[in-house]
Amino acid sequence: MDSLSVFPRRRLMKLLLAGPVLTAAAWDRLKAEAEQSITALSQKYIEDESPDGAYWEELRNFYAFENRFIMMNNGTCGPMPKPVFHALMQAFQTQMSNPYDVYNYQPTFTEAVRRKLAAFLHAEPEEVALVSNTTEGINLIVNGLDMKEGDEVLVTSLEHPGHINPWRLKEKRSGIKIRQVEMPLFPKTTDEIVGAFAAAITPQTQMISISHTVFITGLIMPVKELSRLAHDRGLLLLADSAHGIGMLDLDMKQAGADFFMSSPYKWLGAPTGVGVLYVRKEVLEKVWPTIVSSGWDSKKTAAKLDPQGQRADALLFALDEALNFNNRIGRRRIEKRIKVLSGYLKRELQKIPGVKLHTPLDATLSAGLNAFSVEGVDAARIVDYLREKHNLVVRTTGNREAGTYGVRVSTPIYTSFQEADLIVAGVRHLASRKT
Ligand SMILES: Cc1ncc(COP(=O)(O)O)c(C=O)c1O
Repeated sequence: MDSLSVFPRRRLMKLLLAGPVLTAAAWDRLKAEAEQSITALSQKYIEDESPDGAYWEELRNFYAFENRFIMMNNGTCGPMPKPVFHALMQAFQTQMSNPYDVYNYQPTFTEAVRRKLAAFLHAEPEEVALVSNTTEGINLIVNGLDMKEGDEVLVTSLEHPGHINPWRLKEKRSGIKIRQVEMPLFPKTTDEIVGAFAAAITPQTQMISISHTVFITGLIMPVKELSRLAHDRGLLLLADSAHGIGMLDLDMKQAGADFFMSSPYKWLGAPTGVGVLYVRKEVLEKVWPTIVSSGWDSKKTAAKLDPQGQRADALLFALDEALNFNNRIGRRRIEKRIKVLSGYLKRELQKIPGVKLHTPLDATLSAGLNAFSVEGVDAARIVDYLREKHNLVVRTTGNREAGTYGVRVSTPIYTSFQEADLIVAGVRHLASRKT
């Protein structure tokens, strides 16, 4: 066996064909092999920060796409690498073979995952709640904060429905006011953004609520600078970072946000159904829990916002493995790879006559989500063409009235310059044939 091969295909098939009930030892062996091979890869290439090459090609073997397509829409749902899927299956298998362990053993793992997740985010374990997804995290914060009639929250026109609607509900119920900040749609500098928020603050403003990772344009909002502005003016800051975990090397201490939520099934490789909600410890007591069971009035940490009742702990085992997977590669290396790919893609796209980038070129204001439009070519046509011609999955985004309608392409770590080139070739072809 080649020392760098990952999950040798024949061996994996043999294990899978062994039937639905694999022994724990077999699963553990499979997991250990994956761990060792990633570590070996990382060690071998640790010095090699080159943007492309064998390291990334080998890494692609951890994914099991059907040959049909290459997923470049992680912004909606990313793939689970094989080791994560195996961890998930192993944990769910327990309910078939030994349900006793589902309630006696599996829940004891929760705090270990919380600690690992906190370390991954440079946060404290008491600041991390293990929720289901970003939308749930935002709802828990918006519902849990005491705000009175007339209090204002500042947002932009670029918020996701899962972010703006919890505020709309609160507006209707409690009479708070949502104010949309007049910010350039396609800003080029941090100052433009921070300046727009600074100018919008009034004596009634209590809160700034922004997308860290803007799903429509791929803009990465300057959370650190906006948190500083918010705190200087006595406000709270909520950052919806649905795409952040697994795409950016996140550091909650540096970011300074009071509330931060992310969906690890997009870029981190975790399964759907598990999400992260961070609450800065200094503001924990401002948030009431919304869904409670016994002990609600004595819990002081972010765990008071964890789902109550029986939960699918199997998801936490898979989240743990997704964190291992990312940690072995390295958060910094992941962010760098993603940004190198997207930088290349954007620069090449920009050379095509008629292409308008909706995402900044600046690597501090952008990351793995890349949006663009092509004059005279419908975005849906580009999406269909790339799927039919090259098996690449991308999506349309934005809307025509707002001027943000376009194509959105994700550049996750398992993609390469080759895929970026295919996107560019497809766009060039369509752009040259417009009427
Ligand atoms: C910026 C943003 N916020 C919130 C969400 C909602 O995420 P989820 O469906 O995981 O709750 C998304 C989903 O893509 C998003 O892009």
